[in-house]
Amino acid sequence: MLPPAERMRALLEGRRPAYSLQRELYVDTELYELELEHIWGREWVFAGHGIEIPGPGDYLTLPIGHYNIIVLRGADGVVRALHNVCRHRGSMLCDQAQGSVQRRIVCPYHQWSYELDGRLARARKTDAGFEPNDHGLVQASCEMVGGMIFVSVAESPPDFAPVASLVGRYLAPFDLEHAKVAFSSTIVEDSNWKLVLENNRECYHCKGAHPELCATFPEAPLHSGGGEGDDLAALQQIVERCEAMGLPSAFTASADHQYRAMRLPLLGTARSMTHDGEPAVARRFGHLPADNIGDVLLYHYPSTWNHFVADHAVTFRMLPIGPMQTQLTTTWLVPGSAEAGVDYDVESLTSVWLATNAQDKVLVERAQRGVRSPAYRPGPYSTAEEEGVIQLIDWYATSMQGALGDGLQGAPA
Ligand code: FES
Ligand SMILES: [Fe+2]
Repeated sequence: MLPPAERMRALLEGRRPAYSLQRELYVDTELYELELEHIWGREWVFAGHGIEIPGPGDYLTLPIGHYNIIVLRGADGVVRALHNVCRHRGSMLCDQAQGSVQRRIVCPYHQWSYELDGRLARARKTDAGFEPNDHGLVQASCEMVGGMIFVSVAESPPDFAPVASLVGRYLAPFDLEHAKVAFSSTIVEDSNWKLVLENNRECYHCKGAHPELCATFPEAPLHSGGGEGDDLAALQQIVERCEAMGLPSAFTASADHQYRAMRLPLLGTARSMTHDGEPAVARRFGHLPADNIGDVLLYHYPSTWNHFVADHAVTFRMLPIGPMQTQLTTTWLVPGSAEAGVDYDVESLTSVWLATNAQDKVLVERAQRGVRSPAYRPGPYSTAEEEGVIQLIDWYATSMQGALGDGLQGAPA
């Protein structure tokens, strides 16, 4: 069999545009490893929210393929990304998805301890000549925008400034730095990460699958730049009305569609993504001048998509944990002043997306089981309904092909 990089190149060169990918790209372990290296090991990955780690020593962990990162707030208030690997003999330092360390990070193996900025603080009985300054935790790149933390494990990550500029503008009115986490859920879907993301990038399946979501969310493909007639008119209307209020709203995507921000109208008189369209929270975020401001959508490949309405936000962190397994963490944010049981009820707040996630889990796991069959053949995406999926798969293929090159380097002349 050909080496994995050559197999990947051949598959991507041979793929049919606007068709789903070949079977191997959804099931093969070696090709998945290449994706970990060239996509997940290179791009910015959404880690979580600054408000999840409010104080010094508070951390969350972020598994990115074989990497594991401690995203930790230092004594100086700065959020850093530290590789979760002890500099003695490599033990993982922090096991929990989220937690807090006291003054220092202490390795559970032989108790080397590290300052909250990663410097080695203490190591017992080291040999003469041991240099503590050479044994601090390795840092990864970390950026925060609009309260959202992004991490890249690449030595030279892509320029984050354009992402920060777009995301920062759209999120500023929500003031998420002063929001609070009302609920969080993590599930594992037995499905390749691309099938999970593909499912997110279209609403072709919504009518048949998501009665709760479809109560307020337009299934028309406005979210990927499509739509027509009344749907498009409603979009234009909310964009104009909100822009006039100083709220960024226009559909804005990077040229390669790796990230996008936009505002969508909700259906009818809905003001929130709830079962009846009424706000779930009796407060509204930050500096928002009204509550009928639709839904701000934000995605960034490969790891996140998000919804922001006036009274709450729902964010998604998607991480690959195997060729056919994906972890999805959903987090509900509410205004910082809102009190559970007084201003909102957690069940009403979370019911639409908990139901939608459960429905999507069934869909993507069923898709994975079908794609695993040797009888699977790539099928055509609908350009009217699945333009977002086409954009995603084109981005994926271009990214992988760019990383793998044409295979001629080092070849004999
Ligand atoms: S591996 Fe961490 S102290 Fe030994
Ligand atoms: Fe869905």
